[in-house]
Amino acid sequence: MAVLRSVFIALSHNRLLRRFGERSRVGVRLSSRFVAGMEIDDALRVAEAVNRQGMTATLDSLGESVTSETEAHTAAEVYHRLLDAIAARKLKANISVKLTQMGLSLSPDLAETIAESLAEHASSVGSFVRIDMEDSSLTQVTLDIVRRLHERPELRGAIGIVIQAYLYRSQADIEQLLADGIRVRLCKGAYNEPAEVAFPRKDDVDSNFIRLSCMLLASPICHGLATHDEAMIAEARSFASQHGIDPSRFELQMLFGVRRDLQRKLVSEGYNVRVYIPFGHDWYPYFMRRLAERPANVIFLAKNLLRR
Ligand code: FDA
Repeated sequence: MAVLRSVFIALSHNRLLRRFGERSRVGVRLSSRFVAGMEIDDALRVAEAVNRQGMTATLDSLGESVTSETEAHTAAEVYHRLLDAIAARKLKANISVKLTQMGLSLSPDLAETIAESLAEHASSVGSFVRIDMEDSSLTQVTLDIVRRLHERPELRGAIGIVIQAYLYRSQADIEQLLADGIRVRLCKGAYNEPAEVAFPRKDDVDSNFIRLSCMLLASPICHGLATHDEAMIAEARSFASQHGIDPSRFELQMLFGVRRDLQRKLVSEGYNVRVYIPFGHDWYPYFMRRLAERPANVIFLAKNLLRR
């Protein structure tokens, strides 16, 4: 299983396959399992449907590692349009942003300036910017940017971050973020990381996820636990009920197209569920990371393709 995961993560960086996949009809059809569509309107339509089902949304305009300042500004523009649309349509939604798409690898200052303007915009329309976490070479710079922006009184509460349970450093990072009052989304982590920085064994990642979930649940701020793992969710629920933590004080977050049955069940039981809705033409790396998490999805997708 771990080998297959590494293979798919390695394939997620393959440029040739990416170019072929993103331009082919079959590729686009396959991606629709995990991607809301290619255009902003597709994402908004899905967000509306998700809201109607009693869940909130976070919108991700797919794309990573831009190679020019112009591309970074173009990517940011899509998010500004999303924030306007969220306000105009009164959607219960916020945005999820990757700093490499905002030019982080070209210049951290550029990414910070863009993130700042997105957080200002989000704050002005009562929304929120979640900064996604990428590979471990970017953890510190991402934390630094979010913490600096959050220090600005007008941006307090308008920007949050993601922490990955597979990293050894995450407990210390969460302690710091809780002291700063920053909202955290906790996930297990989706990149290939070396044993020097991340737990190689899934059991250890899971134990850390539970430990860190409890830290977040005990804090007075509303954090997000992002997982489809029923064992993780059961632990969180049991900790919350033992400590008198009302379900309204935290969010369970899941990806579009993954465990829809579980999403619906949790809503019917009174939990806050937020669905992460990715869209856009640059879907290939995101899609391959989803296959890495569950290689059985390849068989499932192939069957669907043959059936149509
Ligand atoms: P795990 O991978 O242990 O799987 C547990 C069970 O969940 C599986 O047995 C299966 O039933 C189900 N499942 C999991 N993935 C599935 C899939 N793709 N298809 C079908 N079933 C699946 N990562 C990151 O590094 N940075 C980030 O910013 C984010 N952001 C983020 C936001 C949200 C809302 C979510 C849900 C996840 C992320 N992630 C992420 C991804 C995260 O790190 C992780 O890779 C996936 O969520 C898979 O881990 P699980 O906790 O779901 O469980």
